Amino acid sequence: MSHQRPRILVFAGSARKNSYNKRLAKLMAQRIDACGGDATFVDLADFPMPLYDGDLEEQEGLPEHASRLKRMIMDHQGLAIASPEYNGFITPLLKNTIDWVSRPDGDLGALEPYQHKVAAIVGASPGGLGGLRALPLLRQLLSNIGVTVLPDQLAVGGAGEAFQEDGSLADEGKAKALDGICQRLVDSLT
Ligand SMILES: Cc1cc2nc3c(=O)[nH]c(=O)nc-3n(C[C@H](O)[C@H](O)[C@H](O)COP(=O)(O)O)c2cc1C
Repeated sequence: MSHQRPRILVFAGSARKNSYNKRLAKLMAQRIDACGGDATFVDLADFPMPLYDGDLEEQEGLPEHASRLKRMIMDHQGLAIASPEYNGFITPLLKNTIDWVSRPDGDLGALEPYQHKVAAIVGASPGGLGGLRALPLLRQLLSNIGVTVLPDQLAVGGAGEAFQEDGSLADEGKAKALDGICQRLVDSLT
């Protein structure tokens, strides 16, 4: 049990400038801070990395940004991820990022940054289901690498109209659900 504010790394599985999932991730970071956590939002656009390639890894090791992100994940106790849905699946960006970070890097073992981590997962999509189909797949992927994923999740549909100007969710029920998820994530790490 720690009495310090748990550090939680927050990101979206989209690098798009106007990404709805980045908006949701930024909102989560704000709500995590309000719930007693210490959130760090990172934009995967700032961590560009090539598509995973075993030959490249053998020749050059981890790309600089994969290594940097791996160390950042090590330095946090929790993860909060907002995942878009592409054809019912998570995005190649999110899968590729998780895969690179799952490789060994110098003193850091392959799955070391993921083990004993707790994660909250959410998603947003302009479609009615809010990317709901991708979330069980992300849950399974994270579980496979040692991350405990909270049972609660949230899919925000109609994302084009879901956010207010201040970044909050217009739907009161969804806003409350997001707060509950953030609170449970912080509580699980405190
Ligand atoms: C290749 C591709 C496949 C997509 N498939 C789905 C889908 O299965 N379900 C869905 O709700 N939206 C789908 N979309 C629409 C995305 O939800 C939309 O582009 C969304 O804005 C992406 O998230 P972002 O705003 O965080 O970048 C797809 C988009 C792309 C480019």
